Amino acid sequence: MGAGAHWRPVGRSTVAARRAEWRAGSSQRQCWERVLRRINSSLWEAILGFLFVLWVCFIYLFASSTGEDPVTLLIWTHPFGEYRQLPDCWELYQIDGCTLTDDKRAYAEADAVIIHHREIASLKVDLPPEPRPHAQKWIWLNYESPSHTPRLWLFGGIFNLTMSYRTDSDIFLPYGYLVPRERAVAGPQSRFTHPLRRPSHSDFSRPRLVAWVVSNWSESHARVSLFYKLRRFVHIDVFGRVGRPLQKGSDNVVQLLRRYLFYLALENSLHTDYITEKLWNAVLAGAIPVVLGPPRKNYERFLPPEAFIHVDDFATVQDLARYLLMLKSNPGLMRRHLDWRGRYSVHRPVFWGEHFCSACKAVRKSKGRTALVKDLAVWFHS
Ligand SMILES: *[C@@H]1O[C@H](CO)[C@@H](O)[C@H](O)[C@H]1NC(C)=O
Ligand SMILES: *[C@@H]1O[C@H](CO)[C@@H](O)[C@H](O)[C@H]1NC(C)=O
Repeated sequence: MGAGAHWRPVGRSTVAARRAEWRAGSSQRQCWERVLRRINSSLWEAILGFLFVLWVCFIYLFASSTGEDPVTLLIWTHPFGEYRQLPDCWELYQIDGCTLTDDKRAYAEADAVIIHHREIASLKVDLPPEPRPHAQKWIWLNYESPSHTPRLWLFGGIFNLTMSYRTDSDIFLPYGYLVPRERAVAGPQSRFTHPLRRPSHSDFSRPRLVAWVVSNWSESHARVSLFYKLRRFVHIDVFGRVGRPLQKGSDNVVQLLRRYLFYLALENSLHTDYITEKLWNAVLAGAIPVVLGPPRKNYERFLPPEAFIHVDDFATVQDLARYLLMLKSNPGLMRRHLDWRGRYSVHRPVFWGEHFCSACKAVRKSKGRTALVKDLAVWFHS
């Protein structure tokens, strides 16, 4: 037989046989595909499940590490016994997860209690009861200088956090601070941030020379002896209890100071970082502050060096007076003390709402960590 011997036309039987073969093969293949598909889908399920667990873990870890849990802050006394409505921290400062309360019944659930020094130091108000609830933090709140902060030594080893004007407080919020223009935020926060005006011609030729506002006149204060010396050389307009009457409120003081070239921002006592609203009132009004307080370097933590005139910059009070008079008749030199203004805004925190909200934010951040203020008196007097 030739080659044709092997060749057969494809007959029906062959076709049927092939079909059967093919069917068998195809059902095998389908089976395999099904198996593969099943493996595939359970693999996918496994991967998705794993990713989901990972995501949940991540969210949980992230949340606990950034203190995402909401917290309750109990305000033990309204500072100086002056009741003020508690703020909405979210609406005013975009601080969320904070519940503020002044209801002492919330003591057992409070994550922290903020305690203003004056009332507990007067011994008319007791500290919260011991033992304190688990993980609760007590915050010491004070904006007076050490000279006017009595009985500090009674309160060592009691508090967990400090809040004051000192830069090294656990919760630091000064009487005021500068914000570079480009970082000033828009939105509700901006109502507490006041842009400073670039000086104009009228700022160099204001009608009045030197103002001083003083509410507590005490012969023992360094500022009073400075005043006695300085007034021998320059005219000083005195306002406040011992001077011309003044309407209460920082805004009225700022309005008044807009007519003055210089303002005496003299602190009642001289202590680290103790720089009060007196300075910020002058800055807001565009009057050059003449400061008596901590050393120049300390002021420079808060302001450009040329933004203020420090009493210590002069060997004698007469030299200081000469300098002020020289500036008055020399706008070019005065410009040096005012030109920095266009680049900044002043943030003036509102007592005490912003303090409570900032404290609450800090409590959220430090949740799960312990802290202790051992030597309150030593630290605050340093
Ligand atoms: C006024 O100053 C005196 C002397 O330093 C001080 O004893 C007193 O507490 C001060 N009063 C106020 C209201 O700050
Ligand atoms: C807070 O301070 C107290 C008193 O020293 C201490 O017993 C407690 O463990 C501290 N709590 C926290 C949460 O730091």
